[in-house]
Amino acid sequence: MKLFLDSANLEEIREVASWGVLDGVTTNPSLCSKENATFEDNIRAICAVCAGPVSAECVSLRADEIVVEGRGLARIAPNVAVKIPICLEGLKATKTLHAEGVPVNMTLIFSASQALLAAKAGARFVSPFIGRLDDASEDGMALIEEIVQIFENYRFETEVIVASVRHPRHVVEAALVGADIATVPYGVMEKLVKHPLTDIGIERFLADWRKVRK
Ligand code: E4P
Repeated sequence: MKLFLDSANLEEIREVASWGVLDGVTTNPSLCSKENATFEDNIRAICAVCAGPVSAECVSLRADEIVVEGRGLARIAPNVAVKIPICLEGLKATKTLHAEGVPVNMTLIFSASQALLAAKAGARFVSPFIGRLDDASEDGMALIEEIVQIFENYRFETEVIVASVRHPRHVVEAALVGADIATVPYGVMEKLVKHPLTDIGIERFLADWRKVRK
């Protein structure tokens, strides 16, 4: 399973890239609004650090405007994936951008029917938001299972990005159900590597090693 970082923060992106585990980056307007750079400059800088797909989100609401905005985003760097919220206008824009060879990440997916339509319209990625579903007392991971099954049944090439990840179990379960990608916030990414028994083990080995060296 590929791991994307769900962040618009360059330091975090550089740090995770240095671990050798970074396959891509997803941003959204809320994440970009926390950064101290203009949107375009920030996306350009992220694309220079991460060779994988970097999602940059459209904010237009009409298909023709989304297409123009998407083309502009795709010109920032060759690895930009244009993020478009699922809606009828978004589907129309996805069809056009896909035909032009622009990869689309269809976002704000909360149902399997939305994912199916996004794949049929030519989206390269779909982003179901599992944490927000869990927050609303629904089962986010059950949605991932449904989408993965549907895409397998009909051999869609669209990749499933598990989004709105809240904790390490979300990542493990995403891998178990066969999702292509999990996009993970920096804090959760750090937790993926941590285990208290590993810390205790390292401490004990070092203490014993100091005895040997005496
Ligand atoms: C994914 O593409 C989104 O940017 C992100 O996962 C949303 O997560 P949130 O529900 O924590 O805002």
